[in-house]
Amino acid sequence: MNAITPSIFESFNARALSPEAVAKTFIPSPRFSELATRCHSIVIGPRGSGKTSLLKMLQTTALENWKHNDAQSYRARIDYSSVFIATDSAWKDQLENVGFGHLTQSDREQLCLAAFTTHFFHSLLTAFVNRMDAFHPGDLRPKHRRVHLDQENETYLVKELAKESKLSPTVNSLLSLKHAARARIGNIWKYAMDEKNLPKESRAERFSKIEFLNFHFLHLCSLAIEMFNDLVGDKEARWALLFDELELAPDFILKQLLLSLRSFGDQKILIKMSMSPYSADLDTFRSLFRATSGQDYNEICLWYAHKEDGYEFSRCLVQGLLNEHGIATEKLEDIFGVSPFEENVKNAYAFNSLQYKTFKNSLGSDSSFRKYFQDASLRLEDVPLLRDSRKATIIRKIFPTLLLREFFRVDERPGTSQRQSKRSRKNPWIYGGATGLLAVAEGNPRWLIGIFRQLIPSARNGMKIPRSVQTEEILKAAHRFRALLKIIPAIGSSSTQNPRSVLSVLDKVGVFFNKSVVLSDFEPQPYGSFTVDSNCSDNLIQTLGLALNAGAIVFVPDAKGDILLSSLKGKRFRIAYLLSPHYEIPIRLGDSVSLDRILSNPNFNPQQQTLI
Ligand SMILES: Nc1ncnc2c1ncn2[C@@H]1O[C@H](COP(=O)(O)OP(=O)(O)O)[C@@H](O)[C@H]1O
Ligand SMILES: [Mg+2]
Repeated sequence: MNAITPSIFESFNARALSPEAVAKTFIPSPRFSELATRCHSIVIGPRGSGKTSLLKMLQTTALENWKHNDAQSYRARIDYSSVFIATDSAWKDQLENVGFGHLTQSDREQLCLAAFTTHFFHSLLTAFVNRMDAFHPGDLRPKHRRVHLDQENETYLVKELAKESKLSPTVNSLLSLKHAARARIGNIWKYAMDEKNLPKESRAERFSKIEFLNFHFLHLCSLAIEMFNDLVGDKEARWALLFDELELAPDFILKQLLLSLRSFGDQKILIKMSMSPYSADLDTFRSLFRATSGQDYNEICLWYAHKEDGYEFSRCLVQGLLNEHGIATEKLEDIFGVSPFEENVKNAYAFNSLQYKTFKNSLGSDSSFRKYFQDASLRLEDVPLLRDSRKATIIRKIFPTLLLREFFRVDERPGTSQRQSKRSRKNPWIYGGATGLLAVAEGNPRWLIGIFRQLIPSARNGMKIPRSVQTEEILKAAHRFRALLKIIPAIGSSSTQNPRSVLSVLDKVGVFFNKSVVLSDFEPQPYGSFTVDSNCSDNLIQTLGLALNAGAIVFVPDAKGDILLSSLKGKRFRIAYLLSPHYEIPIRLGDSVSLDRILSNPNFNPQQQTLI
């Protein structure tokens, strides 16, 4: 079983939200459109990236309550019905219950599997009920795949399903059958408790008499679906089973699920599941779906290696938050201003522009830059005049590095050989501005909500929010994030050879990048990403996996768009931009360097704990 990594702003979690509540604020992204496609899917994303929300939105009730402009087209397009199966339900928690110490592992597993099957069946019955007109009298909401089942057919269905599932509803209604399924989950744990006072030797015999302990969840579900489809007159109707946070399920349940999916040929059933980027079972599920004939499969990754790719979705999400606060604005820049890295786009590099001034100051105070500039046959007078030449491209590329150096370095004193030292900046406001905020939030809805919710109240009455106020909030989030990363122990941290926590590894990388960009001699293409070496230890790989699941590092595919596998070797990553203001590094993708080179730096003390 994989451990869940902690997350900042944990209170913004869709896990406990009803489909109606998710629909109330849901903003669609191109990823939702991909997920909605009629095929098997794996949604992969770090904590807070919106996995649960995306899956929950496919449910009939969510789609019917969704008021967004795109809602109608999604209702028309999604031509299957969904069953949401959460992982964190009763059946899982009970496994570890100390009260069950009297049972053997295999007894517990059998009971847990039965609870899972029942939970699954209960979710399916909920989906049936939600689709039936009879349960929504006088409902004026737009409909998604509503069906009519007359009383006679409902009675027939309930009787048949009760027979097959050995459930005893009080009356022959689907609602009553659903309640009976819910009650069974409680009963399963009662069986377990009762075993305390019964002879061990005859337990196998007792268990063999409880028929439902040996049910197969997919078969029961497949049978129920066929009956329902037939009775509502839509024989070939498809159903999607949505498994959220599947990697948190106990191993034996995952194994069962895999086994049954392998031998399961029901073309009417689609599987859509969510997982963290680093999880042992991802590759197994991936190859399983690839091998499944008859159904396509897609993979939806909820992170943005290139920050700009997440801006459109993030802007819409923040607009939604502003609307909730009664603030209407066309552009986020009207409230949060422009990031200095993108200032004055039209007249950039003109005399007196921020860009021009940065070049001018740097030429005066940064001797290594001056040398680079001269070697490249560039002159300050050229800066405003260059248009689309090769030189102009060079100038545009180096501006962000230069701005950062200018901001964080102490001016060199002419004639001294003093080592370059850092300027202490309490508030690194250069990370503020609309796109600054969007970049550091990484398109992660939980981070976006967490950061912007704090800022938005200051925007009342059309007030612009100063960049320094924004960066204060960003730094607060970054510090909370670091505090969490510090309590995630690195794998193998008991050995003095290994780093102590996920944070110790990140700090080493962050400090290395800072040196490359700010403190060392000027480099036009400083380091800002790392590649995991082929001889990287398993412990370190797993520690990086934890960082990846927490969202502290971000996978950067190569130009061919390679996919993330459970072996991270040979793959390229960057540090989450949320941590950039802390490490004083750019919010842009830098050149890649071997991780081994960073960590084998003689100044690196693996057991060193950095101060938050
Ligand atoms: N597309 C979206 N539109 C609006 N809010 C979203 C969206 N996706 C996620 N959220 C919100 O962001 C927070 C985190 O999302 P959640 O689905 O719980 O992430 P995950 O399951 O990946 O940890 C929740 O408060 C959720 O309501
Ligand atoms: Mg979730």
